[in-house]
Amino acid sequence: MSTLALLGGKPEIDRELLPYRTIGEEERRAVDRVMQTGELSGYVGAWCEAFDGGTEVRAFEAAWAEQFQVGHAIAVNSNTSGLIAAVGAAGVSPGDEVIVPPYTMSATAMAPLIYGGIPVFVDIEPDTYCLDPNLVRQAITSRTRAIIVVNLFGHPAALHELRVLADEKGIVLIEDNAQGPLATERGRLAGTIGHMGVFSLNYHKHFHTGEGGVCTTDDEDFALRLRLIRNHGENVVEPLEIEDATNLIGFNFRLTELSAAIGTEQLKKAKSLVARREEIALRLSRVVEDLPGLTPPMVREDCRHAFYHWGGRYDEAETGVSRDTVVRALAAEGAPVWQGYVAPLYLLPAFQRRVAIGRDGFPFTLSDRTYTRGLCPVAERYHDSELLTVGVCSYELDDDDVADVIAAFEKVFSNLPALSNRAAEGQV
Ligand SMILES: Cc1ncc(COP(=O)(O)O)c(C=O)c1O
Repeated sequence: MSTLALLGGKPEIDRELLPYRTIGEEERRAVDRVMQTGELSGYVGAWCEAFDGGTEVRAFEAAWAEQFQVGHAIAVNSNTSGLIAAVGAAGVSPGDEVIVPPYTMSATAMAPLIYGGIPVFVDIEPDTYCLDPNLVRQAITSRTRAIIVVNLFGHPAALHELRVLADEKGIVLIEDNAQGPLATERGRLAGTIGHMGVFSLNYHKHFHTGEGGVCTTDDEDFALRLRLIRNHGENVVEPLEIEDATNLIGFNFRLTELSAAIGTEQLKKAKSLVARREEIALRLSRVVEDLPGLTPPMVREDCRHAFYHWGGRYDEAETGVSRDTVVRALAAEGAPVWQGYVAPLYLLPAFQRRVAIGRDGFPFTLSDRTYTRGLCPVAERYHDSELLTVGVCSYELDDDDVADVIAAFEKVFSNLPALSNRAAEGQV
């Protein structure tokens, strides 16, 4: 095998990998169709037929509800908006606690703050990188109003277990399923096992509308509240004679007709897009299983992983080479790899310097919580030294690309002694 690119050899992938692209002729035709109508949004922010959007939004929602086997699909303009709507619909009020994982995109933990809720960070499981249900149980207090669980990288969290726990405690389980469309746990689709689910349609996801999102629920009351928060609900509390108007000061979270038309086309391709990501990831996992010091992502029994990212666990103690050196060696071979994902969210300035962020400590006015390093040791460990990801949703990988990515892994991991020596000499 040739010398590592990091040590002057030829890289396994010496070409630019193409960015992941799911948009084609069908989406272009759908956009043209809407453009010809001139009606780029069908919403009116007052009680009338158009309160729930135009024909494209409604058609998209109906298609989504059918595909995801769920009672209601409510299109929004991002997953972030969807999370805010879901937290609002759950009735989260100032001082209420919302359990969240620290290892996720920041919007998960910011959504409760909009309503004066207090994010309570609970650590992740070491094998799935998702909320640890045992620690969630211990963290529930009389102030807990909701749990936001994230199906990180596309692997379902312990969703059924968390739903049973939430029902037992009378709290609301919201799934942030931005990364896990068509993942399943015990045969049920992720995003539909909690009381509400939220999906992202941003450009980076398996399928997308540029920006966008969808909330799902089987509950009539949550569905209505999600619709009201999406579109200036304050205007329809009276005409609809809604008694409990908690959090019904609405927003403009409306998806355009153009985006909805694209979404309907993307949805038709969803199964094959996710299946391809899964195929690539499992191919890589089968090879990585035999490499020293790297454990492929677990796919728990009874689960389907949607593989937004392929996230492996790297063990520096076993190889004697730092993760940083290995990732640099892989990147030098042209492999699309990253390390660490995000720092645990409680380390963000929003939590560390919160008095400086809002006047009088807002939005933490009602919280005396402290968010210190060490709060979630598993997430910290993964971020600091153990997680290594491959962007299976970031690049348009054909079979040759996949073979070359695998060859890059095999090359780097069979050259660990050389890397270790060079690292000891301070040369890499
Ligand atoms: C887990 C998670 N939550 C929330 C978001 C926010 O999604 P959006 O960009 O659609 O608002 C993302 C986006 O990457 C995400 O991965």
